[in-house]
Parts: sequence; structure tokens; C-alpha cells
Amino acid sequence: MNELSARDLIGASQDAELAFAPDLTIIACSEAYGRFHGVSCDALVGRPIRQAFLDDGARERLIASLEGVCRSRRPHRITSLAPLPAGGGKTALDATMVNMPVLGADGGVKWILHSLIVEGGPDRSAMALALEAAEARLRSILQTVPDAMIIIDDRGRIESLSTTAERLFGYSMAEIAGRNVSQLMPSPDREQHDAYLKRYLATGERRIIGIGRIVVGQRKDGTTFPMHLTVGELRSAERHHFTGFIRDLTDQQLTETRLKDLQSEVTHMSRYTALGEMASTLAHEINQPLTAISNYLRGSQRLLDRIDGEQTPLLRDALGKAADQTLRAGHIIRRLREFVSRGDSDRRIENLARLIEDASTLALVGAREAGITASFRLDPNADLVLADRIQIQQVLVNLIRNAMESMTEAAKERRLEIATAAGADDVVEVSVADTGSGLAPEVASHLFQPFVTTKRKGMGLGLSICRTIIEAHGGKIWVEDRPGGGTVFRFTLRAAEIEETGDGG
Ligand SMILES: Nc1ncnc2c1ncn2[C@@H]1O[C@H](COP(=O)(O)OP(=O)(O)OP(=O)(O)O)[C@@H](O)[C@H]1O
Ligand SMILES: [Mg+2]
Repeated sequence: MNELSARDLIGASQDAELAFAPDLTIIACSEAYGRFHGVSCDALVGRPIRQAFLDDGARERLIASLEGVCRSRRPHRITSLAPLPAGGGKTALDATMVNMPVLGADGGVKWILHSLIVEGGPDRSAMALALEAAEARLRSILQTVPDAMIIIDDRGRIESLSTTAERLFGYSMAEIAGRNVSQLMPSPDREQHDAYLKRYLATGERRIIGIGRIVVGQRKDGTTFPMHLTVGELRSAERHHFTGFIRDLTDQQLTETRLKDLQSEVTHMSRYTALGEMASTLAHEINQPLTAISNYLRGSQRLLDRIDGEQTPLLRDALGKAADQTLRAGHIIRRLREFVSRGDSDRRIENLARLIEDASTLALVGAREAGITASFRLDPNADLVLADRIQIQQVLVNLIRNAMESMTEAAKERRLEIATAAGADDVVEVSVADTGSGLAPEVASHLFQPFVTTKRKGMGLGLSICRTIIEAHGGKIWVEDRPGGGTVFRFTLRAAEIEETGDGG
């Protein structure tokens, strides 16, 4: 949220004013204040109150008042000698000083506005003057804040809204001012809002003030949208206002939904491919013993031919059936393998940059927290490839997750670089480089085989899935040590070009 500074608030003020931080450091000073005391504002801004003013009773009275304002969050007025800035040229004068808290969106005191009114000014009360000035400034701020902001009174009536809020809700200030703010929300909040407000004013129990929540807003045309709402409270002497800061979440939610879809697509596919990978490994591993069993059975049958006895034909028959069943088992496994590895590959012309972007959004979840920075070097000449989008994303997700895992243990430098390059013969090369631990020597030579892992919770399937997919795409995948430490995985894909359609028009 774009915060207003105390300087913005005081900058153009015609009155003698200072702004204090809650620790009573001076953070802004109006020209008029400097002129009044014959001191330059630069000499005051940035200084703690005890350094800025001469050590006397007037200073201590001001400090006590400001401290009281911080505690009570209510304005306070004192009539006393005005405290004199150190190095100023004037003598002390009787003055009225109004100290007004400016509350932040969290409900705490953000700064204190100190106005100095010298006796003999216009006969309106100093408080009324100060309030009027503050309100005028607030109005001008509302026209310029980039945020959607709404101010309501203690009965929920809209007092003003920023230009951005007008645009967001589709109402103009003139048509909505004075109406109940519940008009900007759908049911059931619409009917409940007055009750929420009453309850807060009666109990002081905060449900949204200073906390912020995601709620639903309703535009003039009746459409609704998700928004993040933070409510702050402004209290002046006898009036109570609430400020609402609104962030439109429409875009953000769209991204999140898209990310979820993508995630479930890719994880679904990766389970499917993992199954295929396991089936083909199993088929391979089980076929050998099955062949051996079948050979032994045939051998035994032949041995039986040389043995006489009543039961031998029966035995021979049983052995023959056992051998047939062994073969059948082999067939079943082979069929399973074909079934899964055939997977419905759906190859189309894809935009490689887009594909990489999607896959990295998925895979890089948690990267920032792990201190990993990711960069992309995408060759504009390697733009289109012939690929099954989901499968190639799966390859990228596997490689990126491996790269991140290799960096999160020890690596000091945690950099991930994804690059593409157009090569010769319509081949595009994609690389995923990390600054991680490098390859463990015991696995380096057979990384791409299934069930090879150095991780406690690893399945050792990631890279073998990558190889299956890339080879099915007619590409190659391999690994290199990264100069300077870490690992680079590279794979190739077929480049594609959008052909001119010949059927003209
Ligand atoms: N970027 C890398 N840096 C260092 N070693 C790596 C890297 N990528 C893979 N390896 C090594 O190769 C092994 C096999 O990786 P693979 O992705 O096939 O399985 P895994 O990550 O252990 O388990 P999973 O099936 O969950 O992916 C890893 O256990 C690791 O030792
Ligand atoms: Mg892995």
C-alpha cells in the first residue's frame, strides 16, 4: 500500500506545524513553523524532541502532552508558553497547541500532528481550525492516492472515497456520498454491516480493524469481486471515522486458480508416468526370472521323458501347464508395460518460453524462502518446439526440483539458471544449471536408471522419467559438471515452425 508521508501532509500547510514520530522525533516541519521561531526546518527535522528544544518547563509540558496523545490516541490541547527550538531567534510566546494523533491502518499511532496557534487568531476554536485543515488535506490526499480508499462515519455513511475507489466500484463520489457503505458489498454482509459497526462501537472488539481480511465487494453493475480490505480508525474530538483500504484481488486469484489447475495436471501425469516407469522396470526385472523358470520347467519335462512310472504323464502335464502360466505372466507384464508407456502423448507446437514459465512457477514454489534465485536466459530463436506440453513440464519440474534440492543443503551460493539455445538441425537445447552439491560419485554413472537415489525420501524415478519422456520426443538428455561447482542438466527437443498454410485466401 502506498503510504502517505508526514511530509506530504504538512508540506503545503500555511500553519505552524510539526509532525512527530511516536518516539517524539520530529519528522516534518512546515515553513510557517520555522518562520515563526526564526529557525530553519532542516535544523529540526530528524532530531529527538529533547535535542530540538531548549530545556525548560514549556518543553516538558509539550512532551507530557504528546506522550498522553500516544497512549490515549485522542487529540490533546495545551495552552502554555510555546517551547523554543534550540538555536531559534525568538522569545517565548503564549500559544495554544493542538496535538492530534494520526492513526495508521493498524489502528496504532503513526505520527502526531502538532499545530501551534498563537493567541489572537480568528475566534474559532483552535481545535475546529486544526480539524478543518486536516480534513481539507485529507480530501486532497484522497484525490491522489493510488489506492482505493473509502472513509465512512460511525454510522456507516460514506463520507468520501478516492478516485481509484470510484473507478473500482463504478460509482462517482457525488452519487455515493452519504449512502450506506453496505451498498458496496453483497449479501449477507450488506444486511449485517450496520450490526457489525454497532457491535464494534459498543464493545471495542476488533474483528477487522487493523487486521485486514479478504472479503467480497460489489460494483455498481451488481458484479462482485474478491478484495483485500484493511480498516483503520480515525478519532477526532467527538467524531469517529473509519478508513478502508482496498486491494482488488481479481488478477491474483486468477493466477492462483491457474496455478492449481496446472499443478494437478502435472502431478497427475507424473504419477501416471511414474507408474509406467515402475511397470517397465518391473517387467524387465521379472522377465528374467520368469524366463529362467520356464527354461527349468521345460528341462524338467525332458528329464521326465526318461523316467518310467505311472504318475509321470500327470507330472509332465502339470509341468507343461506351469510353463505356459509363466509365459502368460510374462505376456501380462509386457502388455502392462506397453499400455502405460504408450501414454497418450499429445504433441503439438508449443511456445517454449511459455512452457518454461509455467513449469518454473510450479517448481519454484518455496524457492524464495530457501534463498534460491532463479534466472532465465531464453534464446528468442528457440521459440517454438514440438512437444507434449504436460510431459515436458514434468521434465522441467523434475530437473528444477532436483536442482533446488541439491542447493538447499550446503550450498552458499544458490543460483538456478534455465537457458534455451537454438542448435543446428532444428534442435533446441534446454539447460537447467544449479550451484549445488554436484553429483555424488556413487550415482553419477547411472543417474538415469530407475530407483537410483541418494535421498532418504527419494524414489529415484525423477530422472528416469525425464529420460523416457525426452527419448519419446526424439531428444537426448545428459548431465555435465558445472564449471565453478554444481550441475547442469541438458536436454534437446525438436524445433518447430509454424508453416504457412498453402490453401491461401
Ligand atoms: N541437480 C543435481 N545435483 C546433484 N545431484 C543430482 C541432481 N539431480 C539429480 N541428482 C542425483 O541423482 C539422483 C537421482 O535423481 P532422481 O530425480 O532420479 O531421483 P530423486 O530426486 O532422488 O527422487 P525422486 O524420484 O523423488 O525425484 C538424486 O538422488 C541425486 O543424487
Ligand atoms: Mg528428483
